[in-house]
Amino acid sequence: MDGKYALVTGTDHGIGFELARQLLGRGFYVTACRVNENETAIDELSRQHPGRMQVITVDIGNDESVLRAAETCTDTTPCLDLLINCAGILGNMDKTVGDKLDFDEMLRVINVNALGALRMTNALSRHICKSTLKQIVNISSEAGSIQDCERVGWFGYCMSKSANNMQGALVQNALREKNVRVLQIHPGHVATWMRGHLDETAKITPEISAKGILEVVLDRELPRSDRPLYLDYTGAPLRY
Ligand SMILES: NC(=O)c1ccc[n+]([C@@H]2O[C@H](COP(=O)([O-])OP(=O)(O)OC[C@H]3O[C@@H](n4cnc5c(N)ncnc54)[C@H](OP(=O)(O)O)[C@@H]3O)[C@@H](O)[C@H]2O)c1
Repeated sequence: MDGKYALVTGTDHGIGFELARQLLGRGFYVTACRVNENETAIDELSRQHPGRMQVITVDIGNDESVLRAAETCTDTTPCLDLLINCAGILGNMDKTVGDKLDFDEMLRVINVNALGALRMTNALSRHICKSTLKQIVNISSEAGSIQDCERVGWFGYCMSKSANNMQGALVQNALREKNVRVLQIHPGHVATWMRGHLDETAKITPEISAKGILEVVLDRELPRSDRPLYLDYTGAPLRY
C-alpha cells in the first residue's frame, strides 16, 4: 500500500463518517472505527473502496477495546499519518447547579469525550511517530472554551471538551520533539443525530464540516505554535 494512512473514530454516522468518506477521496488509506455494528453505512463505504479502507469496531471508553483496535491498526498499516479523534457523546443539556445532577452520566461523558481521545492517541502514538505527516486532530467543541463559556449547564459535555483540550496540550508538549502536531478543532454547529434526533437548528451539514476540517488540517499553512491550535472548521481561532 502506498499513500497516507488515516484513522478516524466515530464513523458510524455524522461528522466522523464524512471525514472517512472525504479522506478516501483524497487518496488516504482509511481505518474507520465504528462502535455499533448495526450501523452499516460504513460497511457500504468500505465495499465501494476495496483495498483502500478497513472497518474496525472500538469502544473508545474501554481500555481493552482501544488496545485491540490499535493492535489491528499497527498490524495492518506501516504507520499512521493522521489520527482524527472524532467520536463523542452529549449528555444532559438542561440541568444546572442546584438541580439533581447525574454525576454517573457526567463520568460516562468525560470517559468517552476526554479520556477516549487520549486512550486512542496513547495506544497509537508510536505508530504516528513512524509517519511523515504526524498529525493528531481532536474534534473538540466551542463548548470546551472556558474564556467564552456562557452556558449554565451541559456540565459533562463542556467539562469533557475542556479536558479534551488539555489532553491535546499535554500530548503536544510530550511529542513536540518528534514533530507531532496536535490540533483541537470545533466542527461548527452540525446537523447530526448527536441529540438523539436530527438537529434541525444546526447551521451546516456534516459534508460541509468535514470538508472544512480537512482543508484546515491538510491544505492550510498553519503557524507553528507551542499550544495546539484551537480552530473551527473554517480555520477561525477559538480561545481556550
Ligand atoms: N454536531 C455538532 O454540532 C457538534 C458541535 C461541536 C462538536 N461536535 C463534536 O463532533 C464529534 C462528532 O459528533 P457528531 O455531531 O458527528 O455526532 P454523532 O453523529 O452522534 O457522531 C458521534 C459518533 O461517535 C460514536 N461514539 C459514541 N460513543 C462512542 C464510543 N464509546 N466509542 C466509539 N465511538 C463512539 C457514535 O456512534 P453511535 O452513535 O453509533 O453510538 C457516532 O458515530 C463529537 O466529538 C462531537 O462532540 C459536534
